[in-house]
Amino acid sequence: MNHTTTVIAQEDLTAQAAYCAKIRDYWTQEGRTPTAFVDTYGCQQNEADSERIRGMLVSAGYALCDGEEGADLIVINTCAIREHAEQRVFGNVGALTHTKRRHPAQKIFLCGCMMGQPHVVERIRKSYRHVDGVFSTHHLWQFPSLLYTVLTQGKRVFSTQDEAGNIAEGLPVCRTSPLKAWVSIMYGCNNFCSYCIVPYVRGRERSRRPEDILQEVKALIRQGYKDITLLGQNVNSYGKDLELGMDFSDLLAQIASLDGDFWLRFMTSHPKDASRKLFDTMARYPKIAKQFHLPFQSGNNRVLQAMNRHYTVEEYLSLIAYGREKMPDIVFTSDVIVGFPGETEAEFQDTLRLIEKVGYDALFTFIFSPRQGTPAAEMPDPVSKEEKGRWFDALLQVQNRISEEKHRSYIGKDYRVLIDGTDGDLLTARTEGGRLVRLPGSQDLIGQFATAHITGCTTWSLSGHLV
Ligand code: SAH
Ligand code: SF4
Ligand code: F3S
Repeated sequence: MNHTTTVIAQEDLTAQAAYCAKIRDYWTQEGRTPTAFVDTYGCQQNEADSERIRGMLVSAGYALCDGEEGADLIVINTCAIREHAEQRVFGNVGALTHTKRRHPAQKIFLCGCMMGQPHVVERIRKSYRHVDGVFSTHHLWQFPSLLYTVLTQGKRVFSTQDEAGNIAEGLPVCRTSPLKAWVSIMYGCNNFCSYCIVPYVRGRERSRRPEDILQEVKALIRQGYKDITLLGQNVNSYGKDLELGMDFSDLLAQIASLDGDFWLRFMTSHPKDASRKLFDTMARYPKIAKQFHLPFQSGNNRVLQAMNRHYTVEEYLSLIAYGREKMPDIVFTSDVIVGFPGETEAEFQDTLRLIEKVGYDALFTFIFSPRQGTPAAEMPDPVSKEEKGRWFDALLQVQNRISEEKHRSYIGKDYRVLIDGTDGDLLTARTEGGRLVRLPGSQDLIGQFATAHITGCTTWSLSGHLV
């Protein structure tokens, strides 16, 4: 059992809060309110981290703005999952040389998963001299002191030493939505899927104490949040490091038993750890949304093994079948990688067969991207880019048809939805299964649950009217 997780001491967090006060004083002396722009790439984990960064910035007296131009501070929270994500970040950071030329006092910070890779940090150090500060996800809680150093000493700071990872409780948070909240229940990943960079940049799995999570969720419900998503790279490992005799299903049951009108979601689940107990728990508690994101990655057992996924197609399908037996209306979504090194056309066809068998409402499709330092990046990869592109397009075509068929099956029925915003003249809402619905209605309804009658659909969304 791993007991090495460092929980950041209260006095260290208090010291950071004191830096926020010092930064406020600094700007008071400058005689104005500074502005900050936080730009986020990647997954919900990063979104959740950015909400903490914004929280710290607001504590430090910054007003948040939504563009780089003229901002006193720019923080880019980066993602390393695929090369494309990294290239976008490098492109945008490069372009900031111009923004900074127009506003020389501007400070630029980079953080997030890319900063957990030493070769990226070196490149920033040498070739992106206009970047003032860099910190990895393990150093997020130290942002106020890093910012203070940059502001007052005019030197660059790099806080990226490799660490197993820690837990910082009670950081200030500035949430983007008044309705939907992310709650990280654990950090890091131990799975080392052979293609994936996440375990290298986010460290080992570590769970927050259940009482801290419950306290956060209770506060969210009190504040009127209606859609709460528990986050972790593999939520089914929750609690393994705590030795409290409690697993993820138990945590979910405790939260779903809280008073209040809300939907409870979670992501992501690894199929090797998603238990039948978890499905039983979902079925038992009405507040747990009947939506399950269960990435399968490949429909071929040889490829799954090469990916180090530790389950077979048969085991995966039997989990799906169990879920549907317990909850006939459950919505499944998933992730898949096309063109893993050595994948053959026949193995790719197995992936097509799997998506036909399962029938996902939505599928997130990715072409394999080699990540430096992962085993898959070293594997022979004979299939050409063009060929992989053709497979990818074929997959999309099949999935688009399935999504549309799935969506068509909603037509003529009534669904409970949470109205969450507007799109042009229409309201937007989400079903319990997470499907997007557009419908006419008054903006006063935003934030409320309602019943929608579905009358139409596209590949991506549903349309209808309120009942
Ligand atoms: N922890 C989650 C998701 C992690 S990243 C999980 O295990 O499901 C989200 C998705 O990005 C993965 O599910 C995978 O489909 C995709 N992905 C990860 N690394 C990739 C890579 N090197 N190339 C292409 N897609 C990748
Ligand atoms: Fe990456 Fe696998 Fe961990 Fe998900 S479970 S974050 S895909 S290593
Ligand atoms: Fe998420 Fe990208 Fe990091 S997908 S965990 S932000 S590498």
